[in-house]
Amino acid sequence: MKTNGTIETILKRRSVRSFDERPIPHEELETIALCAKHAPSANNRQEWVFVFVEDRGRIAQLASVMGEAMGRESYTMYAPQALVVVAHKKGAPFGREDDGCAMENIMLAAASFGIGSVWINQLQGICDEPEVRACLDALGVPADYEVHGMAALGYAASEPVHLERTSPVVWVGPDADA
Ligand SMILES: Cc1cc2nc3c(=O)[nH]c(=O)nc-3n(C[C@H](O)[C@H](O)[C@H](O)COP(=O)(O)O)c2cc1C
Repeated sequence: MKTNGTIETILKRRSVRSFDERPIPHEELETIALCAKHAPSANNRQEWVFVFVEDRGRIAQLASVMGEAMGRESYTMYAPQALVVVAHKKGAPFGREDDGCAMENIMLAAASFGIGSVWINQLQGICDEPEVRACLDALGVPADYEVHGMAALGYAASEPVHLERTSPVVWVGPDADA
């Protein structure tokens, strides 16, 4: 297999759901933010905002109001060291797709620094619950934006599980049998 540093990062990234206490250097988060902004977006609309939360108390507060909205009292979002809220203007065409691209850039950039990540999906559908929206307002998410995904970031407290890849790949062409 032909490989390079980028390919190795893609292949080594795994979802991390248990983080240790080491803080993430702010400079690395700045690079991750730059990578988020460089994701492709449909028609280059870039109708997103990335909120980087480095305060674990604020992250815990958001998890707590989300937990109340979901009826999951002990919800912690895995208590990460940092959280990236990827918010998109409501109703923007292809907002979900754009956010998926940005989320992957964030998770791969993090992995390249040895920082673990996991997609947090739970804000979908509860963004406008009053307590949740108040918390998002306080974090600087514009009122007319919704959240399709958040990236929880931190150093893995244990080796993440490597899941087997089972998706079929179909080759059509002269090298198909090579
Ligand atoms: C759209 C999307 C939503 C996800 N939501 C969650 C989530 O809310 N919580 C979670 O622990 N993992 C979430 N994940 C992570 C997946 O469970 C994970 O990517 C999958 O099991 C494959 O494992 P890997 O990331 O280690 O390759 C989500 C992934 C995607 C793409």
